[in-house]
Amino acid sequence: MAISQERKTNPLARLIKPRKAKASSAELKLFEAMQAGKAVGDKMWQEAAKTHTWLHFTRHSPYNKIDMTIIERGEGHYLIDSKGRKVIDGLSGLFTCNAGHARPELAEAAQKQMMELDFMPLWSYHHPRAIELAERLLSYAPEGMTRIFFTTGGTEGVESAWKIAKQYFRMTGKPQKHKVISRMTAYHGTSHGALSITGIPAFKQMFEPLVPSAFRVPNTNYYRAPHEFKNEDEFGIWAANRLEEAILFEGPDTVAAFFVEPIQNAGGCFTAPKSYFKRVREICTKYDVILVADETITGYGRTGEMFGSIRYDIQPDMMVTAKAITSGAQPLGALFLKEKFFEPFKEGTATLAHGYTFGGHPVACAVALANLDIYDREKIVDNVRTNSPVFRKTLEKLYDLPIVGNVRGDGYFFAVELVKDKKTKETLTGVEAEKLLRGFLNTALFDAGLYCRADDRGDPVIQLAPPLTIGPKEFDEIEQILRGVLTEAWKRLNS
Ligand SMILES: Cc1ncc(COP(=O)(O)O)c(C=O)c1O
Repeated sequence: MAISQERKTNPLARLIKPRKAKASSAELKLFEAMQAGKAVGDKMWQEAAKTHTWLHFTRHSPYNKIDMTIIERGEGHYLIDSKGRKVIDGLSGLFTCNAGHARPELAEAAQKQMMELDFMPLWSYHHPRAIELAERLLSYAPEGMTRIFFTTGGTEGVESAWKIAKQYFRMTGKPQKHKVISRMTAYHGTSHGALSITGIPAFKQMFEPLVPSAFRVPNTNYYRAPHEFKNEDEFGIWAANRLEEAILFEGPDTVAAFFVEPIQNAGGCFTAPKSYFKRVREICTKYDVILVADETITGYGRTGEMFGSIRYDIQPDMMVTAKAITSGAQPLGALFLKEKFFEPFKEGTATLAHGYTFGGHPVACAVALANLDIYDREKIVDNVRTNSPVFRKTLEKLYDLPIVGNVRGDGYFFAVELVKDKKTKETLTGVEAEKLLRGFLNTALFDAGLYCRADDRGDPVIQLAPPLTIGPKEFDEIEQILRGVLTEAWKRLNS
C-alpha cells in the first residue's frame, strides 16, 4: 500500500511523516513493509542498513560489495543471523552477555519494572532499584568500596572517575592534581576525556587536540617485553616502576590518577604478575595517586572472581564497571568508590556537577539485580574458576600451528597472538595483518561457526571472551573452528 493511501486508512499512519520524494527506494521498501505489518527480512534490512545507518568502529566500504552480518537472535551462547546462520558467541556480544543471551528472568524483570516505574533520573531524586542495586553491588566489592555512582557504560565510568578525581583533589587542598596516567594500547572509551586516557594513537589522531594532561606508561605485554627478565615477576616490577618514573617526570603534585585494567583487552589479554599490582599499589599510595581499576570488561566474573581487582588483589580506590552488570540486556555502568571521595560532599553546598539522564535507569537496575540473582543461583563465577584451566589447555593445543605465537589470558578471557615466525616472534606487517584480519579471518571464523574478534590494535590477535555459562564441550568446538581457520590463514599468509 502506498504511504499516502495508508495514511488515509490507518489511524496510526497519521503519525508518520510523509516521505520526501527523494527518499531512497531502500527506505521506502522497508518502511512500507513495516507499516503494512508485512514481514521484513534480510534483503530489506541489508538495503536499508547500508543506505541509512552508520556502524561503530567499522569500515563501511566492504559493504559496497558484500552483505553486512545482521544478528537477528541470541539463544544461550549462540547467535543467529538474518541468513539463518547459527554461530557460537565467542565474545559475549562485546564482553557483555556473561549469563548468555535471551534470559527470560531478565526480560521479566524489565517488564515488571517498566510497569512499576519506567523512568526516573538520579538527579536530586532516587528510586528503589538503584538503592537496592548499590547495596547488592557493594556486597561483592573489593574491600573499602562504599559508594556507587551509576552511569550507562564504560566510557561514562572512566569520564566520571577522572572528573571526580579532579574535584576531590580541588576540594582537599591539592588543586594541582589533575593529570592521569594509563597504559600503552589500552582502550578506555571514546568521549574526549576517556579517549585522552585511551592509549591507542590511531583512535585519537582524528580528534586531537584531546583533553590535555593524559600520559602513557608501558603495559604488561610479557611476550614482547623490551628485554630479557629473570622471570615474569621481575618484569612486573620493571613495568610498575615505569609508573613511578612517569609520576616523577610530571611531578607527583600534579598527578591525580592511574587507570589500569586487571587484564588489558586491547593488544590481546595482557595479564600482569602478582609483583606488578603490588608495586603499583605501593606507588599510588606513596604519591597519593588514585588507583582506578577499569573493570569494564573484567567485572562480573570474567576472570574467575566477581572482579579482577579481587582476583589479582589490586586494591583499587575506584573501580569502573559496566557491560556484564546486566549481562548486556540493558545499558548500565557502576563506578565504585571509596568513602574518602565522597567525604568533601557530605556537608555544605558541595555538589558534583556531573551526571547522565539514563545513569542508573530503573529498568537497567532491575535487570542488573535479576542478573546477579542468576549469577548466585547458577554459580556462574565458580563455573569460570573451575573451567578456566580447561579452556586455557584447550586453546594451548593450537600451539602446534605455525601461526600461533602466544596464548594468554585468564578466566574466560583469552587471546591467541598470530606470528609469522614462532621462534623469532616476528609479527605480521601492516599489509599482511590487514589482508589476513580484515580480508579473511573475521569472516572466515563467522562462516565456520564462531563469532569472536580478530584484532590488530596491537600485534594481531584473536580474542575470545565467551559467555561464562559454557564449558569443555564448547571449548573443544571453539578450538576446532580456530584450528581449521588458522590453518587456512597460514596458507594464505605464505601464498
Ligand atoms: C576497559 C574499557 N574501558 C572502557 C570501555 C568503554 O565502554 P563503553 O563502550 O561501554 O563506553 C571499554 C569498552 O570496551 C573497555 O573495554
